[in-house]
Amino acid sequence: MTENVQRWKTDPTLFECETTRDGFQTKKMMDYESTYVDEFLNKDPMRDWESFDRCRALWFWGLRKAGLDHIKDVSEFNVLDCGTKDGQFPEYLADIVDDVIGIELSQPYVDYAIEKERPVVYGDVCELTNWFDWENHFDFVFSHHLLGLTPDYLGALDEMLAVTKPGGYMITCNDVPGNPKKHFSYIETSKIFNEFVSKSNCDVIHNDRWHPDFPKEWVLFVKKGE
Ligand SMILES: C[S@@+](CC[C@H](N)C(=O)[O-])C[C@H]1O[C@@H](n2cnc3c(N)ncnc32)[C@H](O)[C@@H]1O
Repeated sequence: MTENVQRWKTDPTLFECETTRDGFQTKKMMDYESTYVDEFLNKDPMRDWESFDRCRALWFWGLRKAGLDHIKDVSEFNVLDCGTKDGQFPEYLADIVDDVIGIELSQPYVDYAIEKERPVVYGDVCELTNWFDWENHFDFVFSHHLLGLTPDYLGALDEMLAVTKPGGYMITCNDVPGNPKKHFSYIETSKIFNEFVSKSNCDVIHNDRWHPDFPKEWVLFVKKGE
């Protein structure tokens, strides 16, 4: 058990909901995810498209925010998409960047992605450095709507920054608390992100609500220190 999970368990003020990684929240997540996977595999293209579209919007928004040219500056990039679902976004990025991989904890999504020959591996975002030889490896670590499903948010953030190259970028976009449509809206987003950046070697590019079109979403975008 990581120090962060320990703290998460012992400091309920950090979260509205006190559960353990092996406890009911994870089970709830898996129940929710299997419904979601079933729906997806039974074809809900609108839902999928909306999500993919937001991933692309977040990617290009981030590049602009960081002052990066979307062709020249990223063509050599090595990108990780955390919680990639069926791998549609890494498949899209494969034509833009040098190398890209998505990581996903739900085996049906991984199987589906592999069947479609999309660049996806099975793995846990909270165990990136334990499972893979990825320390300081990626120029850009991306995640969209992942942390709300990950009880150990701070552990996940630590791992995502650990696999980011010094001078590289890490972006994460998540629901802010109070979104009634979501099961996992209990993240005290700004509190967690502020705590994370205060102890991490990174410069904040953005730590705020994202875009007027998505008023319930919060983006943390950082550049890792050299
Ligand atoms: C809400 S979906 C978002 C998918 C995609 N990023 C998007 O925006 O379309 C979250 C995905 O993260 C995956 N996930 C949840 N916890 C994870 C973890 N610890 N490691 C890797 N993937 C995880 C889920 O299985 C799910 O496919």
